[in-house]
Amino acid sequence: MKKLLIALVTLVPSLAFAAGGANVHLESANIDLNDTESLQRGLDKFQHYCAGCHSTQYQRYNRVAEDLDISLDDMRDKYMVVEGAKVGDLMENSIPEVDAAKWFGAAPPDLTLVARVRGEDWLYTYLKSFYHDESRPFGVNNTVFPSVAMPHVLQDLQGLSVKQEDGSFVTTGGKLTAEEYDQVVRDITGFLVYSGDPVKLERESLGWWVMGFLFIFFIVAYLLKKEYWKDVH
Ligand code: HEC
Repeated sequence: MKKLLIALVTLVPSLAFAAGGANVHLESANIDLNDTESLQRGLDKFQHYCAGCHSTQYQRYNRVAEDLDISLDDMRDKYMVVEGAKVGDLMENSIPEVDAAKWFGAAPPDLTLVARVRGEDWLYTYLKSFYHDESRPFGVNNTVFPSVAMPHVLQDLQGLSVKQEDGSFVTTGGKLTAEEYDQVVRDITGFLVYSGDPVKLERESLGWWVMGFLFIFFIVAYLLKKEYWKDVH
């Protein structure tokens, strides 16, 4: 619990920083937590494109494997990228925070709870909103997070957006079509929404068990009532 609080507290200052982008139109992420394949793809992309810098350290690999229907062998062989990590470990990243802060000017925050703090639509839009800006250290800026210290790590997939004179953006040079890129970003967002509330998956199926239990309990209670009142009448 203490760790969760710390995570929330460390996220709040960066929220204030991003306030400049608060009035930007957010696109709807449209994620589906029952789409296990999408969550698996999201985990895969997250591990390969994001986990080098960002941890999701309130999650363990084996828990995620269980929730997303992945065997422990597949988890180990296909999804884990941090050297020396074991499937029972927390999903930490490989770079020390102090170095990261030095390299980027801001430490990449842990992302376990980012979807809860920022919202899924913010996250989805953020990953789509990097654009060319020479004045920034990595040559890119972001419309929903102005002056962000993160490079556009998905540039090979999306391409680079360049602002036109009329304010619109033209994106070129990506390996994926715009629709394919949207899906990748939706998968990653879905995985992070799941990470922020892993119990949500369980809660939904638990609901049916609770309803079933109440129904059976109702029948038992009714039969008991009949039995008790039989002699009274
Ligand atoms: C090269 C290192 C690096 C990689 C790789 C990287 N990021 Fe980041 N990211 C950063 C840094 C640094 C920041 C802090 C930006 C700031 O505060 O200005 C950041 C910030 C963020 C934030 C904003 C968090 C907040 O609420 O303040 C999100 C969301 C995010 N990254 C998501 C991702 C995702 C998703 C990926 C993979 C597709 C990714 N990042 C890959 C370095 C990285």
